[in-house]
Amino acid sequence: MKLAIGNDHVAVDMKLEIKAYLEQKGIEVIDVGTDRRDHFNYPVSGYKVARLVADGQVDGGVLICGTGVGISLAANKVHGIRACVCSDPYTARLSKQHNNTNIIAFGARVIGIETAKMIVDEWLNASFEGGRHQTRVDMIMEIERTQQLEATE
Ligand code: RB5
Repeated sequence: MKLAIGNDHVAVDMKLEIKAYLEQKGIEVIDVGTDRRDHFNYPVSGYKVARLVADGQVDGGVLICGTGVGISLAANKVHGIRACVCSDPYTARLSKQHNNTNIIAFGARVIGIETAKMIVDEWLNASFEGGRHQTRVDMIMEIERTQQLEATE
């Protein structure tokens, strides 16, 4: 498995720890984030990870900024991306099972490293369930593609 990881200046330590944690599991990690701690604009990392995921260069992405909000918003602007910011392992698991997320994001100012590891584990170990969830994910992607939605319920 190959993942991309990205971060901003407030998430350098957590990025390095999560990267090492993933590599220990035998996962190849492409780090397109920063090791700068003074200033780094999170949309750059959000975009780079999203691009790799959308282009099929990696199997998924991990994004970390202060809250996980800005960097996931940036990633979600790339077509094909379903990035979810979460602070708990349950949401991480359901985001894959029900929403087929291809990027998981969290905040270095919000959660600790052990919770971050649990989030990553739950997300990686989960599988998309398809079925009725596929219908809903298809609706999300229809909005992205057409800026409209045919369905009314
Ligand atoms: C940086 O100060 C902070 O705004 C950023 O890390 C993130 O929390 C944005 O959503």
